[in-house]
Amino acid sequence: MNDKENAAKILKHAKKVVFFTGAGISAESGIPTFRDSLTGLWSKYDPSRLETAQAFRENPALVWGWYLWRRRQMSEALPNAAHLMISNLAETGREVYVVTQNIDNLHERAGSQNIVHLHGSLMSAKCFSCHRPTELTPEQLVVSREGEEVPPPRCGRCNGRLRPGIVWFKEDLPKGAWKSAMRLVRDCDVLVSVGTSGIVTPAADIPEIALSSKAVVIHVNIDDVSLEEPNEYMLIGKACSVLPALWNDS
Ligand code: APR
Repeated sequence: MNDKENAAKILKHAKKVVFFTGAGISAESGIPTFRDSLTGLWSKYDPSRLETAQAFRENPALVWGWYLWRRRQMSEALPNAAHLMISNLAETGREVYVVTQNIDNLHERAGSQNIVHLHGSLMSAKCFSCHRPTELTPEQLVVSREGEEVPPPRCGRCNGRLRPGIVWFKEDLPKGAWKSAMRLVRDCDVLVSVGTSGIVTPAADIPEIALSSKAVVIHVNIDDVSLEEPNEYMLIGKACSVLPALWNDS
């Protein structure tokens, strides 16, 4: 049997599966990955420069406008066949969990229930000064034109500026999220790592942690991201082709 057939067989017999997902799983829904160069008016910006507390201090309107644009891009995107396969697998009586680095809500909209967002969510906002989480009103969700600077709304408690409820570079992950992810990753039979470059730690350590906890790791990526270890399968291809086939073949 080839790697894909072996991986399908292993998935079929798994009782507890964790899907560890990155930007690549949302790429076929039209949401650019972090390592794709930005297009349109944002092309002159580097996402890693926009996704920092320093960038927000220097130009809150630029970062808030970028956040609103990404929220709009996310709301216009639809869950794809890869998101739906994960949600459908959970209907087969297995324990299926999602640990995602993504800040979109496509796993939720595909029907997945048990989701850990390691890097927060575009759906949330909080105060830059007092950190109070804040629901945005429809008026605050102005539809910003691509590349437009929009001054962020103010916190109802301390009048500080609101910021996206996502983890920026050099910021710690939400404590509860990392603990939940570790509990799931250390206790699963199979970890399916989908569409992540494995660059940004600590999330990037997750496949290694799963392997050291005796789980089988199945990578799904258009590039080879394998760690060259035993109990690991590298399935090269697009998430929307590989994941449904992985389940259909099993
Ligand atoms: N199917 C499968 N894999 C894909 C697809 C696809 N259709 N398209 C792209 N990929 C792969 C790329 O080969 C790459 O390995 O998805 C990965 C995307 O990598 P990144 O853009 O680095 O995204 P990610 O790994 O999620 O980044 C992790 O870095 O920028 C920070 O906080 C941000 O959560 C993000 C973190």
